[in-house]
Amino acid sequence: MQSRYGSDRSSTLPASDRRPAPFARQDVTLREGYHSPQVEVDVRLNTNECPEPPPEEYLAELAEIARHLDANRYPDRQASALGTALADHHGVSPGQVFCANGSNEVLQCLLLAFGGAGRAALVFEPTYALHSHIARLTATDVLTGERDDRFAVDEDRALEVIAEHRPDVVFLCSPNNPTGNSEPRATVEAIARAAPGLVVVDEAYAQFSPWSATELLESFGNLVVVRTFSKTWALAALRLGYLLADPKVVEACSSVVLPYHLDSFKQEAGIAALRYDQAMRERVARLAEERGRVVAGLSALLLDVWPSDANFILFRPRDVDSQRVWQGLVDRSVLIRDVSGFPKLEGCLRVTIGTPEENTRFLEALGDVLGEVAGH
Ligand SMILES: Cc1ncc(COP(=O)(O)O)c(C=O)c1O
Repeated sequence: MQSRYGSDRSSTLPASDRRPAPFARQDVTLREGYHSPQVEVDVRLNTNECPEPPPEEYLAELAEIARHLDANRYPDRQASALGTALADHHGVSPGQVFCANGSNEVLQCLLLAFGGAGRAALVFEPTYALHSHIARLTATDVLTGERDDRFAVDEDRALEVIAEHRPDVVFLCSPNNPTGNSEPRATVEAIARAAPGLVVVDEAYAQFSPWSATELLESFGNLVVVRTFSKTWALAALRLGYLLADPKVVEACSSVVLPYHLDSFKQEAGIAALRYDQAMRERVARLAEERGRVVAGLSALLLDVWPSDANFILFRPRDVDSQRVWQGLVDRSVLIRDVSGFPKLEGCLRVTIGTPEENTRFLEALGDVLGEVAGH
């Protein structure tokens, strides 16, 4: 006899009786998700990754880590060794470090712990879209502040909004994606002093910037600095990010994150990566040099180009439809990011700095496209 639970009962129901899937939360599912199109092309300059892989010796270490993994055991739940290595790297205490699967998960944990229903987060548009996106996913209200003509946060306006709305979380992004400018230290200090809640400085591109908000951690218990291994460390595939903050912030994030969220391989891979700090710095210097060449190339094509403290450049074709430029580049197998839909960035595009060969190919393709579009 067949057991009551033993058969695949759904397959025995007539199709007309099949129960439909239930409705998901419409406040999140009706929103457009965050995505940068993944198109198959030769030259991918759309997601601000590092164009070079990490050093060969490091890749060999990854193979060793995989070989010796206790795959049948859960990982260290606190990621203690990784936390200690990162604390040493930054000269803070291990209790000030919280790691997660990419800085996006760090941001999610911060919003789960400090945002949520009845709470609000302040962002300054245009900025990294995931700050407001994750805020909404966690039912946190989103407030929008002003940037000036050079895309710096307008300090006076920011202090006014903070005084009026008293947000629970303020997001800053330095260097700011997608505009490329670093926030001045004085602005971060003024906002950290005035904010009633958390001030999160997303420093995904920190190693390109002339300064870091880590310098302010000792003075401000409400300051959080978020970092990632995805960009300058050339480890986007690994999905590893972390924050540095007061131990109370770390405790709060630890209490909302899922148990054993950070796998053992990643924990060891992160520790090993830090031993290649010098190689990372050299990569950053090479990219910064290439950035100068790409800026010069874009300026020579008579485009509006904004100065960048990061591994990407914001630019705007003049008197030409940016969508046509973007598509023309895709047709030549070069993918960049169309950011024209961001607030205040009408007609703008963003290109990530690639290898010298990729950058040359991008500039040549762009010259070609602009010639074609102008000729029509
Ligand atoms: C400002 C900023 N923060 C965070 C991230 C996400 O990084 P991760 O790969 O660590 O989730 C990005 C990626 O583009 C970014 O630009």
